[in-house]
Formats: sequence, structure tokens, C-alpha cells
Amino acid sequence: MDDKVSISINGQEIEVDRGRSILAASMQAGVKHMHLCGGRGLCSTCRVRVIEGAEQLSVMTRYEKISLRSHLSFSAEIRLACQAKVMGPVKVETVFPTLGRLDYQGP
Ligand code: FES
Repeated sequence: MDDKVSISINGQEIEVDRGRSILAASMQAGVKHMHLCGGRGLCSTCRVRVIEGAEQLSVMTRYEKISLRSHLSFSAEIRLACQAKVMGPVKVETVFPTLGRLDYQGP
């Protein structure tokens, strides 16, 4: 049985093991996905907006809900990439810019 699923992160199509977190999938694919707390659900910098396939992600845990609420993310389409596990095809985009692509215009 093929236990891989395809996901799209910022338009990049990747194959990942079913049950991995979105953040782990990003790391596996080399996406420079921001994750300041190291995937512990504390910082919320890994937030993604789910474009398609929300039903293919693991159910939001109480811990994830509390973390998102504490960072003022109330939209149902926002998930923590480090907590949401991929069970089927899904399309997401990062809320924060990926690392190394910040458009800094300062001196
Ligand atoms: S990496 Fe910090 S909350 Fe996901």
C-alpha cells in the first residue's frame, strides 16, 4: 500500500508520508518554513492557511486551539503546520514569508 500523499505548500508540490505534520513535510522538501519554537506549538510562526483539503488534516487538538487563540488567529482556515498532520491531499500557503525570502527594503 502506497502510504504517501501529495501536498502543495506555497505552490510547491511534494510527496510525504501520510501522518506527518505539514511542518515535517516542509522540512523534508527543503521548504524554508518558519518555525521559531522548533515545532512545539508555542510560537505560531509556522501558521498556514489551508486553501484546499482541510478535511484531510488531523483534527485540531485543544492544545493547537489554545496556541492559535493566544496568537489571535481565529480563522478556521488557519492551522499550525507543526501540529496538523497530513492524512490526504491538501493545499496550504504559509502565513509568514518563508525564511530567506523576506523583502527587507531598509538601509
Ligand atoms: S513551530 Fe512554533 S508553533 Fe509551530
